[in-house]
Amino acid sequence: MTMQIKTPTDNLALRFGPFLFYPEQRLLTEDGRALSLGGRAMDMLLVLLERRGETVSKEELMKAVWPTSVVDEISVRVHIAALRRALGDSHRKELYITTLPQKGYRFSRDVTLVAAAEPPAGPRKCNLPALLSTTEGREVEIDKVANLLTQRRLLTITGPGGIGKTTVAIRAAQRLKDFFSDGIHFLDLACLDSNDDLSQSLCELLRVEKSTLPGHLAKQHMLLVLDNCEHLVSESALLAESLLGSADNLTIVATSREPFRADGESVMHLGPLPYPVASDVLTAQEAQGYAAVRLFVYRCQSRLPDFVLNDDNVADICAICRRLDGLPLALELAAVHIDVLGLRGIAMQLEEGVKVLSQGKRTAMKRHQTLQAALDWSYGMLEACEQSCFRTLSILNGSFSLEQALELLDALDCGSRSRARLLEAVTQLVTKSLVEVERGREEVRYRLLDTTRSYALDKLKQRELAEG
Ligand SMILES: Nc1ncnc2c1ncn2[C@@H]1O[C@H](COP(=O)(O)OP(=O)(O)OP(=O)(O)O)[C@@H](O)[C@H]1O
Ligand SMILES: [Mg+2]
Repeated sequence: MTMQIKTPTDNLALRFGPFLFYPEQRLLTEDGRALSLGGRAMDMLLVLLERRGETVSKEELMKAVWPTSVVDEISVRVHIAALRRALGDSHRKELYITTLPQKGYRFSRDVTLVAAAEPPAGPRKCNLPALLSTTEGREVEIDKVANLLTQRRLLTITGPGGIGKTTVAIRAAQRLKDFFSDGIHFLDLACLDSNDDLSQSLCELLRVEKSTLPGHLAKQHMLLVLDNCEHLVSESALLAESLLGSADNLTIVATSREPFRADGESVMHLGPLPYPVASDVLTAQEAQGYAAVRLFVYRCQSRLPDFVLNDDNVADICAICRRLDGLPLALELAAVHIDVLGLRGIAMQLEEGVKVLSQGKRTAMKRHQTLQAALDWSYGMLEACEQSCFRTLSILNGSFSLEQALELLDALDCGSRSRARLLEAVTQLVTKSLVEVERGREEVRYRLLDTTRSYALDKLKQRELAEG
């Protein structure tokens, strides 16, 4: 039998064992104590409770919980696991949630409908994703972001693909759980395609109708995390401006490979993790002081538990970190090969280019499974003139001045584009985090990260081949 518990006027709770579930508030308590559980897991619990005793297939759960986006089965498994943990199913004989192999899940215990007393104050709402690995370094950046978010209302964290923008945003937001009284809401834009998707997903996240969104937000003291905005950058900027305009206590932190250029925006650009420079001859202990080294070693240890950093391998490890510019995603992807190639093998392969970084974690996002995919995502968003300048700049090894860049571009372009257009293209490449700015004491210089440069060089060669 299906229970009717969806109408907002129903002041009902569902009791099972020591648990009470308040559907309206999406609140689960055990013996009167509120349990902390993500929004999606709550949604799944509601579906299972509504259809208690019946088998609910994974597809049905996906459709009910993610009505507008495509997710894989792993997401269902992750949230079911979180639910089971909250319900203590792992140390119980009579399970609340039973798995029926190949079929789905069933809520198997008795449920009674009770008139709900005032629910206890729930834990502050927060749907930040859990970060499964430790975060190396970034203390300064995380502090700075957390601080800024208590003072400014719109902050964009920018930087190249895989540099750690999402990681820093999540870590900083975690620190602010007690600061925002109406919680922290995290929206990943990577799988959204349009402005409509964006406002629709935001309404679903906040569980409000589109027409009531401004009124709802006006009363909220909350942090909204808009993650991976680069492909909808103008839409995100407009949305942020309009939301902030109507909600005085709303704060937004966004991650994007390029800034929003919105009113009142603060921008924080993330650079690579610190890594030893070529002239450093370090002991293992000294190298341990660099976040890039620690990240690489830690990731190697998850492939080879006996792997240690020592004085014999420190030089190879430092060379790999240098070659990969301390780029976290690239370091992760390289470490995957440690069991097959060993350190020397990885170092040698990297000399050949970034192709070794082509086999990532199976669970990683598609655009993170290879560094190439992460760069493709950025390259695909460039205009034709920017793409051509980007390819050409790969000829320059090391740092270069703006004048050098423009001279080269002008020469290869044979004067077909004005200098102003070329300057605009270089500016765009900087804005979109494909060219890094190095601010020295004397002059501003520019540089492509080695990983980015290999990619651009590849594109240049492909183009030359295609053009004969
Ligand atoms: N400081 C760090 N310590 C450990 N791992 C890190 C760190 N920064 C990033 N990573 C890891 O590197 C990978 C890329 O990081 P992240 O997703 O935060 O980058 P991003 O800049 O948001 O990338 P994108 O531009 O593609 O969205 C992730 O797997 C993340 O776990
Ligand atoms: Mg990201």
